[in-house]
Amino acid sequence: MNTKHKVIFGNCMSMAELSEQSIHFIVTSPPYFNAPFDYKGLFENYDQYLGVIAKMAKEAYRVLQEGRIFALNIDDMLVNGKKYPITADAIKIFQNVGFRYRDKIIWKKPDGYLRISRRSGVLLKNPFPMYFYPDNLLESIIIFQKGKFDYRSITQKIREKSKIDIKEFQANGWYKTIWEITNVLPGSKLEKGIAAFPDELVYRLIKLFSYYGETVLDPFLGSGTTMKVAKELKRNSIGYEIIRDLEKIIRKKTNFENENSNDIFEIIERNKGKYRFVTLDYIERKKNGNKG
Ligand SMILES: C[S@@+](CC[C@H](N)C(=O)[O-])C[C@H]1O[C@@H](n2cnc3c(N)ncnc32)[C@H](O)[C@@H]1O
Repeated sequence: MNTKHKVIFGNCMSMAELSEQSIHFIVTSPPYFNAPFDYKGLFENYDQYLGVIAKMAKEAYRVLQEGRIFALNIDDMLVNGKKYPITADAIKIFQNVGFRYRDKIIWKKPDGYLRISRRSGVLLKNPFPMYFYPDNLLESIIIFQKGKFDYRSITQKIREKSKIDIKEFQANGWYKTIWEITNVLPGSKLEKGIAAFPDELVYRLIKLFSYYGETVLDPFLGSGTTMKVAKELKRNSIGYEIIRDLEKIIRKKTNFENENSNDIFEIIERNKGKYRFVTLDYIERKKNGNKG
């Protein structure tokens, strides 16, 4: 089967290119609110950040088919000593647009994960009470559902083609609420500065929540991890990405750069209006306080 993949360069606060109920599964990882390394100073304030999540969630609800799942990889964020309750706020936002909060999976990175500064080092320097700040090895994957899934809507043939390998499910602990998965290593070239999620995370979610030949959406596509895995698993995919400059990376990651397969790759540019794409240069200027 040939699959189709579409990147829409534009802001996912609008998904005007997609019609109602045209998507079977959504998986994404939004930018973390002003994360010290990746998104420092990008959003003017927390309300503005939550506004982006709310508009995206509303559009996601519209385009998702009845009964289907949105898996949101998100986490609370510590900025200048203050922890922002992003997970709790996102759950409320999703509930308000109509989703049912169904499950929470914790993604645990290996103990050696050192990307974000070692906060526990404060206590090592000052081994006294009140100097404790734990190192964070966890992120959440929040599972939301739109209405009720009709299991009879899938043909026997498609069910068989989408069958989950029980051995893999058991051996790799998919059945638990904690998934131990190695993060994308900080030095990896393709994902530099993108805060990509690992293939394995998306692989499990796509297998668990979509059928062969269906369409997976990632509203914050980044380096294209969702598109890459969807293609490998014979799902179609659509991704929104606001930074126009990422095309090259996405092409490379999805192997559309040099491949002669019959899979289809399409680029759409939304270069006008309020929700148009931006450039890396624009983001850099914004981070540096110049709004021009
Ligand atoms: C955490 S990264 C996603 C990484 C992705 N999961 C991967 O594996 O590469 C978030 C991405 O969302 C993009 N982004 C931020 N705001 C956006 C918006 N409003 N619409 C579309 N994309 C946006 C950022 O440019 C960034 O590439």
